[in-house]
This record gives sequence, structure tokens and C-alpha cells, in this order.
Amino acid sequence: MERTKFILGEKEMPTRWYNVQPDLPEPLPPPLHPGTKQPLGPADLAPLFPMELIKQEVSQERYIDIPEEVQQVYHLWRPTHLHRAYRLEKYLDTPAKIYYKYEGTSPPGSHKPNTAVAQAYYNKKEGIKRITTETGAGQWGSSLAFACNLFGLECKVYMVKVSYNQKPYRRIMMQTWGATCVPSPSPDTKTGRDMLAKDPECPGSLGLAISEAVEDAVTHKDTHYSLGSVLNHVLLHQTVIGQEAMKQMEMAGVYPDIIVGCVGGGSNFAGMFLPFVKDKLAGRKKDLRIICVEPESCPSLTKGLYAYDYGDEAGMAPIVKMFTLGHTFMPPPVHAGGLRYHGMAPLVCHLHKLGFVEAKAVPQLATFAAGVTFARTEGIISAPETNHAIRVTIDEALKCKREGKSKVILLAHSGHGHFDMGAYEQYLSGKLQDYAYPEDMVKQALKSLPEVPAQFR
Ligand SMILES: Cc1ncc(COP(=O)(O)O)c(C=O)c1O
Repeated sequence: MERTKFILGEKEMPTRWYNVQPDLPEPLPPPLHPGTKQPLGPADLAPLFPMELIKQEVSQERYIDIPEEVQQVYHLWRPTHLHRAYRLEKYLDTPAKIYYKYEGTSPPGSHKPNTAVAQAYYNKKEGIKRITTETGAGQWGSSLAFACNLFGLECKVYMVKVSYNQKPYRRIMMQTWGATCVPSPSPDTKTGRDMLAKDPECPGSLGLAISEAVEDAVTHKDTHYSLGSVLNHVLLHQTVIGQEAMKQMEMAGVYPDIIVGCVGGGSNFAGMFLPFVKDKLAGRKKDLRIICVEPESCPSLTKGLYAYDYGDEAGMAPIVKMFTLGHTFMPPPVHAGGLRYHGMAPLVCHLHKLGFVEAKAVPQLATFAAGVTFARTEGIISAPETNHAIRVTIDEALKCKREGKSKVILLAHSGHGHFDMGAYEQYLSGKLQDYAYPEDMVKQALKSLPEVPAQFR
């Protein structure tokens, strides 16, 4: 019988994060201050983040040591397994070899604690007592709640209202780890109160929840803000995934032809592909395909503009160059709450713009169909976000079948869907719907892009 799981011991877990920045053929466009529209300096970010994370944001060091205390917490669930999806391959009757790296075994159930633990650690070291954040599906909020609890920090989570209502158990999970969780828009901030006055039924968005969490952090002493995706340091922390996967693919005696992952802000998939893209950037693996998958209803990489835009709804967060649908865009309430972000990580956008990674958009119903196939073959019930990546993995495997090619496909499996049973119920009872691409809303939102000085356009 051939091997199904590729397992690393704790001693084989990476002890450094991989930073792609020194390996980029062109540097990243600089982030700009939301007020002055000039490049941000470390002092501008200090009210929000600890200095170690600010340094990591712009570091040109190829490898950054993972602090011992962070490694110890990672050992609670890392290294995660790499699986060969024999049963899915057999069901699809494909000559493709499908592997998946499963991040759902972390205590909160996804990749998110890889950065939450690191961020809580650096904040604690700087003497911070309280951290605020936003959450979409609740995976990030519960990961930060988990991490803050381990390092003795208070945690307040602004949860996008539509997800708050869809996923009560995520909120209870955060509370179990000692965090406070409120629906966003909330009456707790000026941003939230303004939005509620304008639209009491507002379903919320990640951009709006970010504004609330940032406002809370800058108006409270001893409080910092923490972001679960998009920023360079977040992607950096996630590279434990790809580094482990590289070793495990070596154990399996293969190198991927195609790597597939879902992208909301870009962190789980970048964590997987960055160590591999290093080979592509160096010209060693020119044919490697890296496919980012996003929802058709919130298609920043496939339909957005590559432009400077605010990271949040209210225009308080830094302005970064990214593929964006406009920071005021309110995405339809799809169940993949973690993919409802108007922009995308600048690093992912930069690599997409330079042609090193591809992007595909998929409709909601097709992603659940793929998720159910995965559950009925491999057993794992996946998060709605992950189902996007599973959809394209299956599509690529079926293409291999049509073309008679035996490609190696590596799927970044970002988490389980045990708190998403409401969404599965809707799908299984035929109530789930597709949302068309809201073209008019995007056109409107793109009118609100900030004016930036000519040299940054
Ligand atoms: C399970 C899961 N996968 C993917 C994502 C998307 O985020 P990112 O693109 O930062 O990995 C989320 C976000 O909440 C998530 O919970």
C-alpha cells in the first residue's frame, strides 16, 4: 500500500520564517500614510503594532528566526500533515497526483494561529495589555483569542455582522478563550455608530470591522491592533506551511506542477506558495503554476484595479498598492466570510502583476459541490473558504484526465468547516444561491479610491 500521510517530527518543524522580499525582482511599492499620502515610516505604525512586527514588515533579511516561545506553542499542533488524496483521485478517475497540506488540526481549526501566536508574543514582549481585531468567518478572531489567552492578553474582536449571526459557535469559542466579541458595525466605535445611523441593517464587511478595531486601538492606551492577513509580516509567519510542505513533498519524492489555494487577504496561500515561488523567481521551476482562487462575488485579483487603496472602509488604515474593488465595496453575504475583503495582500498582488501567480474566480454553489465531494472521499469537512481551492483542484485534476496528463497538484487546505454546518445545511437543502458579480457596486466603490501623488500612480 502506498503512503497516505507524510509526517514530520517536532524537531523538523522550521525554526525560521522565509521572507520573500530580498528575492523579489522588483521591490514592493511602498505603503502610504492615509493622511499625508507619503511613504509610511515606522513611527506611523507604532500606535498599532509592536516594533518587531514593523521591522518584519519591511525586512530584507531572507530568513527570520522564530522565537523559542512561539515555536513551543506551534508544537501544540505543528508540523501539520501532508496527505495524498488517493480517494479523491480514485473518485475523479484522474491520473493527477493530488496532495493536500491540512491546517485544520490547529486548536481553532485553521492556519490563522500561525501568525496569531507570533503577533500576541511580540505584543506581550512590548508590554501591551490588550489587542483588538476584526474577524470575518470567525477563524481569525478565534485564533487571536486562543493566542492572547496563552500570552495573558485581553482580546476584543469586531466580527462582521453577517458572520456573527451565521456562526454563533465561533463567538462562543472566542469567549471560551476569554475574548470579547461584538457584531460589526457596533455601537462601540464612532465608525460603527456612523454606519448604523446610515444603515441599521448593514451586514458589515471586513473593511468596516478593520476600521472599528483600528479606531479602538488608537483611542485606548496599552492597546494594539492585530491584522489576520494582507500585511507582509502576516504572510511571513504563514511560511511555516510552505517550508514544511516542501520537506514533505521531498519525502513523497515529488515536486508540485500546480499549487492551489484560496485567497481572502492572501495569507494562507502565500504561506504555502512563497517558499515554492522562490524556486520560480530563481528560474529553477519556470513551469510551476500557482493558482489563487477567490469568490466570483468578491473578485479582487480577477476583476479589481491594481491601484493604491485604503486597507479599511473608513480610510484610517494605510494606503497600499493592491488589486482592489474599492474600500467602500460591501461584498454579497457569501458563506466564505474570510474571502469577503475588497483588496488583497500587496505581496500576492505584486507577484500576480509580475506574472508569477495566476488567479481564478469561482461561484459559491460550485465550491460547496467540491467541498461535499472532498468530504465524501477524503472525509474532511472543509471551511467554505477552503472549498474554493478544492473546486479548482478538482477542475485541474479533471483537466489532467481529459488531457491524459499525470500532474502533481498541491492543495493548500486552510481549515475545517465544523462551525459552518449552517452553510452546508443550506447547500444540501438546495437553499444556497450564487451571487452574480456586483459590477455596478464595484464601479461605484472604485470612484472612492484615494488620490495619491503622481510618483506613486
Ligand atoms: C479557513 C480559512 N481559509 C482562508 C481564509 C482566507 O484568508 P487568507 O487569504 O488570509 O488566508 C480564511 C479567512 O478567514 C479562513 O478562515
